[in-house]
Amino acid sequence: MKVLVATDKPFAKVAVDGIRKEIEAAGYELALLEKYGEKNKLLEAVADSDALIIRSDVVDTEVLDAAKQLKIVVRAGAGYDNVDLASATAHHVCVMNTPGQNSNAVAELAFGLMVMAARNLYNGTSGSELKGKKLGIHAYGNVGRNVARIAKGFGMDIYAYDAFPAAVEAMKQDGITPVEKAEDLYATCNIVSLHIPATPETKGSIGHDLVGRMPKGGILVNTARKEVIDEEGLLQLLSERTDLKYMTDIMPVRNAEFQEKAAGRYFSTPKKMGAQTAEANINAGIAAAKQIVGFLKDGCERFRVNK
Ligand code: 3PG
Repeated sequence: MKVLVATDKPFAKVAVDGIRKEIEAAGYELALLEKYGEKNKLLEAVADSDALIIRSDVVDTEVLDAAKQLKIVVRAGAGYDNVDLASATAHHVCVMNTPGQNSNAVAELAFGLMVMAARNLYNGTSGSELKGKKLGIHAYGNVGRNVARIAKGFGMDIYAYDAFPAAVEAMKQDGITPVEKAEDLYATCNIVSLHIPATPETKGSIGHDLVGRMPKGGILVNTARKEVIDEEGLLQLLSERTDLKYMTDIMPVRNAEFQEKAAGRYFSTPKKMGAQTAEANINAGIAAAKQIVGFLKDGCERFRVNK
């Protein structure tokens, strides 16, 4: 059996070593394709692979067609919007994610971006502190929950919105104030941190009207997905409201326009960095390897996300 790790944005070496150990201990072979850039290289590498570990790498019908022996894809991470689930099901390929394994890393970066915004992007002028500010956590999953834990240390006043009743229960357990509507979260909070997945319902849902409800000096932090932003609407809002700031870990398609229209109030990491820590790579990578071994040896389908 051949397990391919295909990561255009590579894991830390220590994580790859850990993955290799798991895979080889099970008697399988590990192949590594890093920084491949062009899809053709992925199409070639998957041809004789039985299992695949990916990050934000796109697995679509073309990849699945090329992967004649493929039985399982594990997205080492949380969001699986990069995998065509219906096509995987049609190809009899099991798709899993590794929920929670990289969420602390993403949550910590959200605070890195918050502090940067509150200190005026380190431009030397007098900024503000997070302590005592109202933080809105938009979606209370694994990352949202870590954000709440860290926000307590900063002494923030914490609110959260999530459409799922189980998430509202978690907020109550954690002593976070649940908000009934997304609109109210934005109207209430000085800082909103986005943790929604990219789905047909959420794509383009964060834009002019919603963010425009934020109080003066509001900061929007995005460590989720670029697709959830209505870029046109947010650009328009940032032009009208010169008090607002936008900090993102996922560069918008219209990055140059954001830089121009919100100069000094906008920052994007050059490459998605949220889960890019040795710890997150080790946790998510080794979990992925273990899930593959469990699936191939025992048929274990825990964390399967396609039907
Ligand atoms: C995730 O969904 O797990 C995060 O967005 C991290 O993505 P990455 O593995 O591409 O860094």
